[in-house]
Amino acid sequence: MKRIIFSLLVVLAGINVAIAADADAGKNKAALCAACHGANGISASDAYPNLAGQHADYIIKQLKTFKNGTDRSDPVMAPMAAGLSEADMADIAAYYSSLPRTPTADAGSASAGGQAAPAAVAKYEPSAIAGKSLYELGDASRAIGACIGCHGKDGASEVLIYPNLAKQHPAYIEKQLHNFKANKNRTNFAMNEFAKHLTDEEIQDLGAYFADTAAVANVKVRKIMTVAITEEVKAGEAKAATCVACHGQGGNATVTLYPKLAGQSAEYIVKQLTEFKNGTRKDPVMSGMAAPLSEQDMVELGAYFAAQKATAGNGKGSDAGRKIYFGGKTTLVNQSITACVACHGGTGKGMAKAGFPSLANQSVEYITSQLNKFKSGDRANDKNSMMRKITVALSDQDIDDLAQYIASLK
Ligand code: HEC
Ligand code: HEC
Ligand code: HEC
Ligand code: HEC
Repeated sequence: MKRIIFSLLVVLAGINVAIAADADAGKNKAALCAACHGANGISASDAYPNLAGQHADYIIKQLKTFKNGTDRSDPVMAPMAAGLSEADMADIAAYYSSLPRTPTADAGSASAGGQAAPAAVAKYEPSAIAGKSLYELGDASRAIGACIGCHGKDGASEVLIYPNLAKQHPAYIEKQLHNFKANKNRTNFAMNEFAKHLTDEEIQDLGAYFADTAAVANVKVRKIMTVAITEEVKAGEAKAATCVACHGQGGNATVTLYPKLAGQSAEYIVKQLTEFKNGTRKDPVMSGMAAPLSEQDMVELGAYFAAQKATAGNGKGSDAGRKIYFGGKTTLVNQSITACVACHGGTGKGMAKAGFPSLANQSVEYITSQLNKFKSGDRANDKNSMMRKITVALSDQDIDDLAQYIASLK
């Protein structure tokens, strides 16, 4: 097993230092950096990343990493960082994070399809729209989490250790994704896992997207409900009569042992019914219920429940649960828990098109039972063992905390 280093301690140390940071002093200390990263933290060359507007915590973490050479190695930055004290790093980070990130000089050409190809060889034309789709939806079939879960809407991340990606040089983004993919020069559990499955073309699409996320800000990657689905919803309502006994009126189960289906994604419901029927997901009650359903029945039931509004869950909330949900966890035994937010989203609504279920409004009891079932392998219908790999490293206490937190999400 790979050694996983994603230490929250490093980050916390960064935050402590950042409080005492002095951006004016940082400006002076950054004089040397301007040669490559530009006078205002916007670099003129594709080879150097923009630093303006980046989170200070993230900058500090990278400088420390370059300095100690553990998770990131770069022949240029290692000697640059070697001479910096913690106070220098904090000041410089405060300075760069205070600067606005204006569009990069090459942003326009990249989002319009990359630089002109000088060679006769046909060059791949990157698509910012394809990049945006992958960014927002991920790809469940290849265990690629949706990037938006960590890096935020349009590449502006809300979590300080997750870098902002908007208005970054495409060539730099591509180089980093290749580094993560090859697990060479740069180590980060989540990023190495996701990048592993990205194709060269997808990496270029992502680069084009980040160069100027605003250019495709209005492109909706999610399908909008159509009239046809409304008819399915009606048909589904009639067929859902037998489900009420356990899943409640409108899919709002009142007995906490039974999952709520209201507001759950239609794709996910169809997948579960199909798998209860064919035995991939085992439950004596549900396999009996699913056995007589046709594919069309399942689609209609999915459409009906997806369109219902869920009532609030019974969770009390939990700070410890929230931490794991947003930050994942590194255990002492070489195992890492990917942050739940990556796939289930910031408010627990999941990502329908990627096959990630909504967890919001669900009951503590049901969430607990499913986490335990994934952990023991009793439930094994998650593609690529996505949930089994994560739950195996969760303690009983972690599961209690997560269930209390998740069931408090609305
Ligand atoms: C000679 C050119 C050069 C100079 C001078 C330089 N850098 Fe860099 N910097 C780079 C390159 C190249 C990279 C990308 C390394 C990689 O590919 O991993 C980089 C990356 C970084 C990153 C990581 C950015 C990210 O988005 O992950 C930070 C932070 C950084 N530099 C800060 C500094 C600071 C602070 C200074 C001044 C003390 C400095 N650099 C001076 C070339 C330079
Ligand atoms: C679970 C959270 C998470 C998800 C999901 C995620 N990332 Fe990241 N990403 C990170 C973290 C954390 C880092 C910083 C790693 C480090 O400290 O070196 C990072 C770094 C990066 C970087 C390097 C940025 C820089 O300035 O050097 C790029 C590019 C990137 N991610 C792209 C993506 C793409 C594309 C996806 C979707 C396929 C994605 N990320 C999904 C957490 C995530
Ligand atoms: C007698 C009680 C009962 C009835 C009636 C019932 N279910 Fe269920 N259902 C359950 C139980 C129990 C589970 C949880 C199984 C587990 O623990 O894996 C479940 C789970 C599900 C799930 C998976 C939910 C999730 O979040 O993963 C779906 C979808 C579902 N039922 C749909 C239906 C539909 C549609 C009907 C009506 C045709 C129906 N059920 C009727 C008891 C019932
Ligand atoms: C890489 C993506 C990914 C990550 C990260 C992830 N999940 Fe999941 N999760 C899934 C998928 C996919 C399913 C549905 C599996 C299936 O098709 O039955 C799922 C299902 C679940 C379910 C069952 C939902 C239901 O209605 O039965 C729970 C509970 C859950 N996840 C909790 C978590 C928690 C807690 C974390 C973080 C510790 C987490 N997940 C992290 C992808 C992910």
